[in-house]
Amino acid sequence: MDSLTSGKLTLADKSVSASRPPLFYHAAAVLGRRQVAVGLRTRGRTPRRWTNGGDGGEAGDSLGQETDVEAHHTPVMVREVLSALQVKAGGVYVDCTVGEGGHSLAVLGEAPGVRTVGIDKDTDAIATAQRRLGGHPGRVVLVQGNYTHLDNIVREHGVRPVDGVLFDLGISSLQLETGVRGFSIRREARLDMRFDTLQEVTAHQVVNGYPERALADIIYQFGEEPGARRVAREIVRSRPMETTTELAAAVQRAIGRRPGSRTHVATRTFQAIRMAVNEELDNLNRGLDQGIDVLGPGGRLVVISYHSLEDRRVKSTLRRAASDCICPPGTPQCICGHKASIRLVQRKVIRPTAEEVEANPRSRSARLRAAERI
Ligand SMILES: C[S@@+](CC[C@H](N)C(=O)[O-])C[C@H]1O[C@@H](n2cnc3c(N)ncnc32)[C@H](O)[C@@H]1O
Repeated sequence: MDSLTSGKLTLADKSVSASRPPLFYHAAAVLGRRQVAVGLRTRGRTPRRWTNGGDGGEAGDSLGQETDVEAHHTPVMVREVLSALQVKAGGVYVDCTVGEGGHSLAVLGEAPGVRTVGIDKDTDAIATAQRRLGGHPGRVVLVQGNYTHLDNIVREHGVRPVDGVLFDLGISSLQLETGVRGFSIRREARLDMRFDTLQEVTAHQVVNGYPERALADIIYQFGEEPGARRVAREIVRSRPMETTTELAAAVQRAIGRRPGSRTHVATRTFQAIRMAVNEELDNLNRGLDQGIDVLGPGGRLVVISYHSLEDRRVKSTLRRAASDCICPPGTPQCICGHKASIRLVQRKVIRPTAEEVEANPRSRSARLRAAERI
């Protein structure tokens, strides 16, 4: 637990205080078998106001105190997350998708002495979370990396087993609204869509380099786009393609307008390409397994997903882990030797309230599932 007492932003082997002013950091991250050169430049913008300290100086440690740092993302189902995590005094919680730190902030304020480890692939998100969680010095560790390294990360920080693990999947408003990241259909930008801007594969490579068949499979499987073959054909015909606007226009040429639909005709294709670029479903499978493994008895796993593909994976992984037998149906006698490692906190998925959807329309597709480690 000692390593959580110093409030570190960790880029694997280098750490900096979460309450220091934004600087330029450079470090090599060695996590598991992956070695990544990590350069994180936090934007030079100074927080407008720290409620309990100067400009990023030592802030106070009072519970639930939110530093007034500009955030783009409204965290979803906060009340439900806190209730499912059953945050307890002195507990350690891992926010695997810390984003701008909205959920972490709520967890830190929920009980005395709570500590959090926040992970995100996105250096901009980590920089914002660092400023936002600065009001809890000594209780926050931030790690720029992939949550598929969760097990290594908690071991490295000496906090395994932990009391709770949260995954809030998908994309943040910060990413969507930052035009240059290339996530938004409505903002012209170079085709990028990387959560981790240090990763090599971009949407540009997928769109311009993948064979038509592979593109069609991606768009069908990850976007559940019925017109996937037509879209893939039109993308290949329109190559080379540089921008989000060109991609959206190609999809529109392939499918035409969808009368009555409130979403853009290219929404499914953009989602599919983003999921392929970031290997989202593979990461989810690996992350969930580790999320269960790192929990101590009674620890809680909470997952918020935003579309049926993700939710199906979450549901089946949790059901399997909660089962004492995973033999194929019809096997006369159990031969698998599987033992349940979790119990489902509730059988049915939890949805946001109508009030939340009204206040934050981006929450409308959220589905929360929770489990408890046995
Ligand atoms: C919906 S946002 C989280 C928002 C956050 N709960 C908040 O309150 O601000 C999802 C975040 O997950 C991050 N992410 C997606 N896949 C990841 C992965 N495999 N490892 C680490 N972070 C990931 C994204 O970069 C994004 O910042």
